[in-house]
Amino acid sequence: MRPDRPEEPQGIDEVELLRRARELRERAYAPYSGFRVGAVIATADGHRFEGVNVENASYRLTSCAEQSAITSMVSAGVRSEIVAVAVVGDGREPCTPCGACRQTIFEFGPQAVVYASGDGGQPLVAGIGELLPHGFGPKRLAQGRGT
Ligand code: THU
Repeated sequence: MRPDRPEEPQGIDEVELLRRARELRERAYAPYSGFRVGAVIATADGHRFEGVNVENASYRLTSCAEQSAITSMVSAGVRSEIVAVAVVGDGREPCTPCGACRQTIFEFGPQAVVYASGDGGQPLVAGIGELLPHGFGPKRLAQGRGT
């Protein structure tokens, strides 16, 4: 384990979140890539939201699992900060969020801890700030001239 492994946020059970993300993966709609992903996000006020990747024949309309979970959170009217994200993808190695998902996680959880797993070995555990260093987010945007 790395010495700088982020602390588990309060009320977060890494094993349980990853177990659920792995279970969700079965529901993925990934007929084109054959790469299934499940994700769970946890918010500071105790909510959990779930997502899977949803592909499309036009390819570019694909939604990632993390993105689906975050869309579900916002649609539910929840704006509490994201404190943890668990992602499980097919294959042995940890399924780390793609660049676009890192940006989306950062928007709602600039301190979020990401638990990424595949089907073998240890999960990768990293703060979103490590996955998206020097990220651009709402705080920085607010320094602009506004509308
Ligand atoms: N995928 C995710 O759902 N999340 C990620 O962070 C990585 C990629 C999905 C998108 C696509 O359906 C498949 O995995 C292959 O890229």
